[in-house]
Amino acid sequence: MKVLIIYDSYYGNTLKVANNYNELLKDYHPELIKVDVVTQSIIDTYEIIIIGSPTRAFNMTKKIKRTLKKFDYKNKKIFVFDTRANPVLIDQKFLVKLMNRFGYAAEKMEKVLVKKNAQKIMDYKYYYVKDSEGPLVDDYQSAIKKDVASLIQKFN
Ligand SMILES: Cc1cc2nc3c(=O)[nH]c(=O)nc-3n(C[C@H](O)[C@H](O)[C@H](O)COP(=O)(O)O)c2cc1C
Repeated sequence: MKVLIIYDSYYGNTLKVANNYNELLKDYHPELIKVDVVTQSIIDTYEIIIIGSPTRAFNMTKKIKRTLKKFDYKNKKIFVFDTRANPVLIDQKFLVKLMNRFGYAAEKMEKVLVKKNAQKIMDYKYYYVKDSEGPLVDDYQSAIKKDVASLIQKFN
């Protein structure tokens, strides 16, 4: 199974998560690339595609959105994740209401890909940051370990 990990990241939080995935999947010789360098021929080389985005204004980043729109993911096995603010740590109730109402990156990425006939192999995951620019919450690595173990089960 050839695994490609595509990520976008402003402050390095999503990159950290992507790096963890890359490390934990090393038996599968994954390739980790930034969203800027994705091409159709790169996508075509891989059977499994993992995509990670920060949540920005209740959505995926513009670059991730463009990449999902532009390329063909038909029949690719896909799994997505995002990083996002932890609503429990946010003081402004109004903002939390908006976050609940307008959602996050991962569910939207998943929806676009499924609509393009990609094959979702596991429901999306998300990882919290402590403040709007990070860092990730303390136990993020153990959450990723658990998620990667589940993901590997879905590879075959
Ligand atoms: C301009 C901006 C907008 C953001 N919008 C949201 C949002 O709508 N929902 C959310 O949960 N987190 C939001 N966040 C928090 C980011 O999702 C979080 O910091 C993310 O982990 C950043 O990942 P990165 O370091 O890979 O860019 C926002 C952060 C910034 C700076």
